[in-house]
Amino acid sequence: MTIERVLVAGAGLMGHGIAQVHAAIGKRVVVYEPDIARANAGRDRILANLERAVTKGRLADDERDATMARIAATDDLSRAADADLVVEAVFEDVEVKVRLWGELDSVAPAGAIFASNTSSISIDTLAAAVGEPRRARFVGMHFFSPVPVMPLIELIRGSATTDDTEAAIRALATEMGKQVIVSGDRPGFIVNRILMPFLAEAMRAFEEGIGTADDIDTGAKIGLNHPMGPLELADFIGLDVCLGIMNVLHKGIGQDHFRPPNVLVELVDAGHLGQKTGRGFHTYPR
Ligand code: CAA
Repeated sequence: MTIERVLVAGAGLMGHGIAQVHAAIGKRVVVYEPDIARANAGRDRILANLERAVTKGRLADDERDATMARIAATDDLSRAADADLVVEAVFEDVEVKVRLWGELDSVAPAGAIFASNTSSISIDTLAAAVGEPRRARFVGMHFFSPVPVMPLIELIRGSATTDDTEAAIRALATEMGKQVIVSGDRPGFIVNRILMPFLAEAMRAFEEGIGTADDIDTGAKIGLNHPMGPLELADFIGLDVCLGIMNVLHKGIGQDHFRPPNVLVELVDAGHLGQKTGRGFHTYPR
C-alpha cells in the first residue's frame, strides 16, 4: 500500500497539524472542511507554523514553499476520490464522525485506508459506518498536539483491521519520524486513559479550593517536571475536547475518577473552552 495522496478531514488544532506533517514528508494533501473559510484558515495556520520554523533557521524558504505547494484546501468532499489515505480529525462526537465516514466511504477509492484521529471513541464503532470490505483498512491513528512537535502516534486496530493496514501506518509514522504505540480498542486508548483522570483530579483540587490554578500547575511543572501543568494542558487541548473524552471514558469504563468535574462542565457551558476562546482555567491574550 503506497500512500502518496492524503485527504485530511478537519482543519482545526489537530487537523492542520496532521496535514502539515504529511505534506512535510512529500505527500500531496487536501484539507477538507465543509466551510471553505475554515479550510483556508487551517492552511494559513500551517503557513504560520512553517514561517516560524524559517525564522528560527530550521527550515529553508524553498522547503516552506514546496510544502505549501503540496497542500490544497477544499470544501468539496469528492476530492477524496483519488486519496490513498483519509485521516479524519473532526470534533470528538460519534454521530459527526459516523456521518462523515459514511459519506467518505462512497467517495474514496476502494483501496484507500481510513484512519481516525479519535482520541477516545471505539474504532469498531466508527468502522461500522463503512461497508464491510473497507473495515479491513479502517484504523485509529491518534496524534498528539502540537502535532509537528509531539513524536507519538497511538495506533488502534479494530477487530477487522489487517496486518497490511497496520504496516502501512507504521511505515508512514517512520517517515514522519514518529514512534508508534499500539493500543487495544478501549475507551480513551492508552494515553487518554492515563491523562484524563490526572486532569480531572487537578480540576477537582481547583474546585475544592486546595490551590490556585497557578499553584496547581506550578506543582506539576516544578514538582513533577511536566512541560505544562494539568489545567494549562486542559486549556491547551480544549475544555470541550477534554469533556468529550471524559464522558466517553466515564460511560465506557464507569469508574468515578473518569467523571467530568462540575467546574469543567460549567466552563464549557459558559463557552470558556481554554486557549482557543481566550479563557479557561487561565486567561490568554487574544
Ligand atoms: N505548532 C507547531 N510547533 C510548535 C507549537 C505549535 N502549536 N508550539 C510550539 N511549537 C514548537 C516551537 O516552534 C519550538 O520548536 P523549536 O524548539 O524547534 O524551535 C518547540 O515547539 C518548543 O516550543 P517553545 O519553546 O515555544 O515552547 P515550550 O518549550 O514551552 O514547548 C510545548 C511548547 C511543546 C507545547 C510544551 O509545552 C509541551 O510539550 N507541552 C505538553 C504538550 C502535550 O502534552 N501534548 C499532548 C496533549 S494530549 C493530546 O494531544 C491528545 C488528546 O487526545 C487530548
